[in-house]
Amino acid sequence: MAEELHIASGDRSARYEALLPQLQGLLSHETDLIACLANTAAALRQTFGFFWVGFYLVRGEELVLGPFQGDIACTRIRRGRGVCGTAWAEARTLVVSDVDAFPGHIACSSASRSEIVVPVFDASGQVAAVLDIDSDQLGDFSEAVDRPALERLAKLLTPLLA
Ligand code: SME
Repeated sequence: MAEELHIASGDRSARYEALLPQLQGLLSHETDLIACLANTAAALRQTFGFFWVGFYLVRGEELVLGPFQGDIACTRIRRGRGVCGTAWAEARTLVVSDVDAFPGHIACSSASRSEIVVPVFDASGQVAAVLDIDSDQLGDFSEAVDRPALERLAKLLTPLLA
């Protein structure tokens, strides 16, 4: 893909279906991890207008803030802490409909109402990063649409994390 994103009209599912092949094309032309994570975050923000989209990278026993789109955010999260640290520790996607109801949620912004965190696995099956998307709407992410689409997106990043 050239440095241009075609944003489909239609519902969220249709937008994911249009976005994923474009991202696949974009990532196939670049091997630098940071460049790819940066454009992935930007593409998600452009397509859906989410409040905050970004990556945290596994660094020892902590997650460290990586490329993101949105307001400044906490830079380090311990394993098992908050939604991001829990998704890492449990190596699974977490869909949080109401962040205030999630014990230990880390509030980087008081405007965040719901959140999805998707692990990104390296080639050996270890969690190497997490994708964190925050919304200023309650219940903005679904198990039926966002989770499978974002897990497919995360798989596109695995070859970069070998
Ligand atoms: N809310 C997250 C922290 C990251 S920020 O929202 C960008 C959490 O509880 O892990």
